[in-house]
Amino acid sequence: MEWKDGGVFRNASRDHILREVADSLRRLRTDYIDIYQVHWPDPLVPIEETAEAMQALLDQGRIRAIGVSNFSVAQIERFRRVAKLHVVQPPYNLFERKIEKELLPYCRESGLASFTYGALCRGLLSGKLQEDAHFGGDDLRLTDPKFQPPRFTQYLTAVRHLDQFARQHYGKRAIHLAVRWLLDQGATAALWGARHPGQLQPIDEVFGWSLDAAAKTEIDRILRESITDPVGPEFLSPPPRSKPAVLEAAQ
Ligand SMILES: NC(=O)c1ccc[n+]([C@@H]2O[C@H](COP(=O)([O-])OP(=O)(O)OC[C@H]3O[C@@H](n4cnc5c(N)ncnc54)[C@H](OP(=O)(O)O)[C@@H]3O)[C@@H](O)[C@H]2O)c1
Repeated sequence: MEWKDGGVFRNASRDHILREVADSLRRLRTDYIDIYQVHWPDPLVPIEETAEAMQALLDQGRIRAIGVSNFSVAQIERFRRVAKLHVVQPPYNLFERKIEKELLPYCRESGLASFTYGALCRGLLSGKLQEDAHFGGDDLRLTDPKFQPPRFTQYLTAVRHLDQFARQHYGKRAIHLAVRWLLDQGATAALWGARHPGQLQPIDEVFGWSLDAAAKTEIDRILRESITDPVGPEFLSPPPRSKPAVLEAAQ
């Protein structure tokens, strides 16, 4: 990503990646980065150029593993023709399940690790949010369509039912169920955003139990009945940079 003129834009060009890595290594005061991930595919840069830059960094030992985030299977296949790929980072949670169709099975078949983001759907699945929740500043939830009425009510209803289900069957809460479900679906790691260390305390309750097929069917029923107007995470997608005039003229 490129922070420019007060905005954040996609930029997966070779030059930008090399500059970003150098800046990160300097700021982190380290010689290498364990996993380096391309944040978004960039429509203005051929995937092969991005992949070549990442492979060069791997070969030089400046990064130790390569990842891509928000890439489709077709884009991943193009990338893998040029560079090694270790991990993908798609959005995935009980409310946002697009990857089940293609990407998750693809990861399983090709031995790719999946670090899925948005485990709690930006806090919705924490079970702490109420109808009168207020968000301020640059909080993404101000524009997230799930958090606007009347949809917000539907999602909160689903969380309430999931919480009841988790309590009755496992002695757990919605937050534990949400993360357990991700891991039982086959995600390698569930990225869970925390504003302070205390928010990670529920992690202990995620382990030592699992959800079987019957439980997953019941969860799906709850989702289907509570959320009549579902919407995905597309609003998260950042804009590309504006096309250079030369490229525009050539098309
Ligand atoms: N690759 C990408 O394009 C991309 C996009 C988005 C995110 N990510 C990655 O995924 C990570 C997680 O994303 P996210 O923050 O959107 O995900 P999330 O895990 O779905 O939601 C995190 C939010 O849930 C709330 N929360 C967390 N633990 C809680 C607890 N114990 N009790 C109550 N509320 C709790 C907090 O919000 P409040 O306390 O404010 O309510 C927190 O900010 C990010 O840090 C980032 O690394 C990647």
